[in-house]
Amino acid sequence: MTRGFRPLFGLLRPHVGAVVLVLGASAASSALALAQPWLAKHLIDDGLIARRMDVVAASCGLMLAAAVLSLAMGAFNRWHYLTLSGTVLFRLRERVFGHLQRLPPSFFARRPTGDILSRMDGDVAEVQRFVVDTVLASVNAVLVLVGTLAVMAALSPELMVAAFVLLPVQVVAVRRLRPRLETLTRRLRERSAELSGFLVESLQSVKLAQVVGSQPRDAARFAALNAGYLAELRRAELFAAVAGGIPGLLNGLAAAAVFLAGGALVMDGSLTIGALVAFTVYLGRAAGPVNTLLGLILAQRRARVSLERVADLLDEPVAVVPPADPVALPADARGAVRFEDVGFSHGGERPVFSGVDATLPAGVKVGLVGASGIGKSTLIDLLHRHYDPHAGRILLDGIDLRRLDPAELRRRVAVVAQDSPVMAGTIAANIRLARPEASDDEIGRAAELAEIGHLGLETPVGERGLALSGGERQRLALARALLQDPLVLVLDEAVSAVDADSARRIAASVDALFAGRTRIVISHHADILDGAALVLELTSAGLIRRPTESAA
Ligand SMILES: Nc1ncnc2c1ncn2[C@@H]1O[C@H](COP(=O)(O)OP(=O)(O)OP(=O)(O)O)[C@@H](O)[C@H]1O
Ligand SMILES: [Mg+2]
Repeated sequence: MTRGFRPLFGLLRPHVGAVVLVLGASAASSALALAQPWLAKHLIDDGLIARRMDVVAASCGLMLAAAVLSLAMGAFNRWHYLTLSGTVLFRLRERVFGHLQRLPPSFFARRPTGDILSRMDGDVAEVQRFVVDTVLASVNAVLVLVGTLAVMAALSPELMVAAFVLLPVQVVAVRRLRPRLETLTRRLRERSAELSGFLVESLQSVKLAQVVGSQPRDAARFAALNAGYLAELRRAELFAAVAGGIPGLLNGLAAAAVFLAGGALVMDGSLTIGALVAFTVYLGRAAGPVNTLLGLILAQRRARVSLERVADLLDEPVAVVPPADPVALPADARGAVRFEDVGFSHGGERPVFSGVDATLPAGVKVGLVGASGIGKSTLIDLLHRHYDPHAGRILLDGIDLRRLDPAELRRRVAVVAQDSPVMAGTIAANIRLARPEASDDEIGRAAELAEIGHLGLETPVGERGLALSGGERQRLALARALLQDPLVLVLDEAVSAVDADSARRIAASVDALFAGRTRIVISHHADILDGAALVLELTSAGLIRRPTESAA
């Protein structure tokens, strides 16, 4: 087939044995189905016309046996095939999921969740439908067709010509329809992605819609998207019905041609009635596989569109590549961070920052300030290696971050971000994410220090933590970082949503607890930065050292 299907073949390779088994079973089942009309010919010519009841009875018995066996083989085959194709397709979905897990935050900022869902669900299912139904049917079709044609040729070569003069017309007709089908399919899949994108997006922000009163507009937009999808669906179905009807029409013509030519042959005695009957039965049987194969040409296009949409996700570049041979942090690592002339851009015209150069000594509290939107959080994203700098490098204890195992880096550097991600589940489960093997006592202690314990560790936090207040979410994230016991702790506006008294108290207990470890504290509030040995301001000219009280 085409280049588009290559990912599927790659996934099939480990299952060659199973593929051969399925094809063998398919061949056996087809051979049994082929025996039927031949037995009918035998029954008519050698039984009925020769007036031999024993032959009639024997033929009927054999027909029955062939039918039952063929059914059993077919079921066996389908089951095996489903297992095989299901395995392959789920592997594809897992591969896409694995790839998505490595993509940077900017990908998820750019790509609507609904679009990703639609590709991983709808498009993968479309490919599966193709692989399960169409390909299996086609393999069967080829086998049945080859067998049927062989028997038909044995019965009467002349009738073969009459039956298949029209086949080239069919092939040409279907090939001409193909590009149009591809366009229709792509549009249909895009409409479907828009629809799920809209749903995911708007269901996540119902509150915003209520606040700004946009529900009527949203409802209208939903209706318009639905109408658009339905219109596209109708167009595609109408096209499929017309395109699908053409082979049937041509089959009818072929049958008429066979009866005309066959009737003449029977009348001048060069063909038996049994042979003509058997031939027309085989012709009817051949029509099925021919249509299946013509349909395959169309279905292949549809599946290719979907497969390309899935491959799009696989083609998304990962922002950071883990080193093949990572360097371990030394056992006496202290958490010294060095930015060396670091520059980074999100791909826009202007870089977010450039020429960022600073040394953060190990074991001290460093304040990081700067105007909103200047790039502080982005700098931390670089330190956590969600992206690599486009210029310069970042070192942890003298080792370039690119040489460390990202998993180790993220274990040793804990970041409590502005909008700390919280997962559905209990408070305890959320804290435990940082260190799954932690004891209940350790989790309890982390929760107490972050002042979240009083809520009850088994309290569910709701999807994305929406059942918690903003400050509670932040304290939960802080508890997670405390449990992680990192070398470097980054607090990026980590207590911005907590009341001033609690914020000061939490900041003080973090300072007490992490005294002697590197702390990078980003805050717009001066008292959170109390006791910082060094305050750096991020400006468009890079990192500038600001005088601190303790340094002054
Ligand atoms: N995924 C992205 N794609 C493009 N631009 C982005 C992306 N993420 C952030 N930016 C831009 O990068 C700049 C720096 O953002 P960043 O979040 O680092 O600022 P900040 O200093 O942390 O601000 P604040 O104090 O408000 O938290 C902003 O102008 C922002 O619009
Ligand atoms: Mg920020």
